[in-house]
Amino acid sequence: MKITILTMFPSLFESFLLSPVLKRTIDRGYITLDIVDIKDYANGSFRHIDDSPCGGGPGMILKVDVVMRALESVKNSSSHTVLLSPKGKTLDQKRVRELSQMEDLVFICGHYEGVDARVEKRVDEMLSIGDYITTGGEVAVMVIIDAISRLQKGIIREGATEDESHENGLLEYPQYTKPIDYNGDKVPEILLSGNHGAIERYRHREALLLTKELRPDMFARYNLSEEERQLIEET
Ligand SMILES: C[S@@+](CC[C@H](N)C(=O)[O-])C[C@H]1O[C@@H](n2cnc3c(N)ncnc32)[C@H](O)[C@@H]1O
Repeated sequence: MKITILTMFPSLFESFLLSPVLKRTIDRGYITLDIVDIKDYANGSFRHIDDSPCGGGPGMILKVDVVMRALESVKNSSSHTVLLSPKGKTLDQKRVRELSQMEDLVFICGHYEGVDARVEKRVDEMLSIGDYITTGGEVAVMVIIDAISRLQKGIIREGATEDESHENGLLEYPQYTKPIDYNGDKVPEILLSGNHGAIERYRHREALLLTKELRPDMFARYNLSEEERQLIEET
């Protein structure tokens, strides 16, 4: 998979590129990552990449001509182009899985007051990482690439992502490790029983109960089977 990031601040990615899972996907050739400096596509002696908003208002807006020159120079007919924007569709694990299957992704990071609105209709989609505002698209794209890279085949142990929160509409069941007894707070005995069937059943029940308690919105969307309904009601 090829990923290109258009940014005004390439140096922000230096330590990100060293994060263990991403580095492994790059070292093994699953992902090639190009960081492209939007400033290289500014024209004229002043090399402006931003300007004040038409109609007035605070801040600066990234210029459509500069951003589009950068985008056109890196994309090809199979590229999927994404503008990071708080106006975009909110990222979820389903979309992360879909993105992780794509061959060629190009991300545009905005900054300051944002990007000229004419860029919005010239990309394949806008993606948001949540209903809040970050300073720039760089942190948002790091979130997306981190989530994509751990889904590349062979990067994380087979099966390790299957029961994770948000994979199947539920939160993950509670996980424990040693010490078995922490100041009287003990790991549930069933997890020490070695009875794999009972453990699986226990964990699924916990995942259902936890989701119901912590994320009633998710639980309401979950298609609960009759068997699961009975499992929840067991004492
Ligand atoms: C300060 S924000 C601009 C926000 C813009 N003025 C607005 O109200 O929609 C600058 C840039 O950060 C990025 N950004 C901010 N919040 C984001 C979010 N929740 N998801 C994805 N990108 C975000 C976008 O690339 C945006 O262009």
